[in-house]
Parts: sequence; structure tokens; C-alpha cells
Amino acid sequence: MDKNIDIMDKLTKVCICTGISRATIKKAIKNGAKTLQEVQKATGAGSGSCKGNRCTHKIEELLKEQ
Ligand code: FES
Repeated sequence: MDKNIDIMDKLTKVCICTGISRATIKKAIKNGAKTLQEVQKATGAGSGSCKGNRCTHKIEELLKEQ
């Protein structure tokens, strides 16, 4: 994987409430999470104070990309 993408993935927060990075979401998808619910369960994303309002669509985008 491209090193810069790797670094950006670690720095970019997908779920701002819980501080879950894009790298963590991608890892969960790589480890077999196939749906939004599975990603949320594996990472804890979406469980913050906005209840997924700000991160749900970003997780869905990442699921589509894989
Ligand atoms: S940004 Fe993910 S729960 Fe708020």
C-alpha cells in the first residue's frame, strides 16, 4: 500500500466522536466486516454522541471502495 495513503488513513478520523481512524475502519473491512453494522460492531464507530450522524456515510463509502 502507498505509504502516504497509509499515513493519511491513520491521521484521518472517520468517526470524530470516538476518534476512530480511517485505517481502523479499513482494517475491520479487511478482516471481514461487510456491512455498516459489522464495521460499527468491530470498531465502535457510530457509538459516539452524534449516534453515527457524521460517520455513517463515510463508513458506507469505504465499504463501497473495498
Ligand atoms: S462521528 Fe461517529 S458517532 Fe459521531
